Amino acid sequence: MAVAGPRTLNLVRQNQASIQHVCSRASSWWSGVEMGPPDAILGVTEAFKRDTNPKKMNLGVGAYRDDNGKPFVLPSVRKAEELIVSQKLDKEYLPITGSAEFCKHAITLALGSDSPAITDGLNVTTQAISGTGALRVGSTFLSKFFPGPKNVWLPAPTWGNHVPIFKHVNMDVNQYRYYDPKTCGFDFSGAMEDISKIPKGSLIMLHACAHNPTGVDPKAEQWDEMSKVIKERGLFPFFDMAYQGFASGDVAKDAYAVRKFLADGHKICLSQSFSKNMGLYGERAGALTIVCNDKDEAARVLSQVKILIRPLYSNPPLHGARIVSTILGNPELNSIWLNDVKGMADRIISMRTKLKENLAKEGSIRDWSHITDQIGMFCFTGMTPDQVEKLTKEFSVYLTKDGRISVAGIASSNVEYLAHAMHHATK
Ligand SMILES: Cc1ncc(COP(=O)(O)O)c(C=O)c1O
Repeated sequence: MAVAGPRTLNLVRQNQASIQHVCSRASSWWSGVEMGPPDAILGVTEAFKRDTNPKKMNLGVGAYRDDNGKPFVLPSVRKAEELIVSQKLDKEYLPITGSAEFCKHAITLALGSDSPAITDGLNVTTQAISGTGALRVGSTFLSKFFPGPKNVWLPAPTWGNHVPIFKHVNMDVNQYRYYDPKTCGFDFSGAMEDISKIPKGSLIMLHACAHNPTGVDPKAEQWDEMSKVIKERGLFPFFDMAYQGFASGDVAKDAYAVRKFLADGHKICLSQSFSKNMGLYGERAGALTIVCNDKDEAARVLSQVKILIRPLYSNPPLHGARIVSTILGNPELNSIWLNDVKGMADRIISMRTKLKENLAKEGSIRDWSHITDQIGMFCFTGMTPDQVEKLTKEFSVYLTKDGRISVAGIASSNVEYLAHAMHHATK
């Protein structure tokens, strides 16, 4: 047996010392990790849960509630699930880009069955982990392959997650004017002025309908003008469509902007979510589409999208995609669903009307017309952070500091209470 020399012994000692060092650190590997700020919306829900006031209202959360304030599973979804379960299907992996049937139905819903982008095979559509996942895969693709400057222009304000999604892929984030606090409406001239100055060949993000957080959408004629200037600047539009059907109750009307831009010759990126319009929040059903110039380009883009997704999550979840395909692929279920979406949109619209009427009844002399002018799940009330605090402290009404309320969280039984509280906080 060989005897260890002084050099070998030294090495052994050094090794033991570094193992000891690692072990002694083991309980404090993350001592350098700082506490991060809580998520703004989840923080509102936490505070709401702690409140014992029986009249409390949570208007922070972006999920539909029925007129009893309860989560709502759409009748079309229940029926689709019964059908799926009765078929005793397997639970094999989906391909990297998900269910081909789901992708076809999703993009047809967005663009319409007569869309040349679909009939000519120019769309690269992949199933995604809902809208957030679609935006994440889309932004990753763009950060790698977009030939223009690596910066994106977002409306001010925009959905809170847009900024970190693009920052995480190292893109510069800029904003164009969108919301006008003076009118609580769309700042069309400001938006047009800013867009016309965006460096040529840049990336612009557009909310297809039911803008979150403001509930303010451009009118059809304004979209037409925006399409023109975006074309002139050679900008690449990335549409986020998280609320198709949820805004007006009509899926074709809510897809106006996306379809118009394509008809005007834009090539686009599109993120879709079925969280809101099918109430599939936890199922994570969404899609990302990149519209290409020709089939060859589409094949190359698809190959790269697969390469990006594979190390992220391998392949998307099955059940939500099956629900969507079953509903969109079955004429009877499809018409039940269209009725379900309209029912949700109509209930929200009627809550807007009732809230405005009750504010007038309370004696509020403020102009609340934006409550009914805005559309979709959210209303940007125009309340200041102080007024929001008053609303929460004195009336147990919970919302984000920017004055955004989820109209979907209001019910016939508490709309008067809310109007009373809002009037008190703003008079
Ligand atoms: C504008 C916008 N985009 C995308 C999403 C993504 O939602 P999800 O990931 O649930 O589909 C939301 C959800 O609130 C949204 O408001």
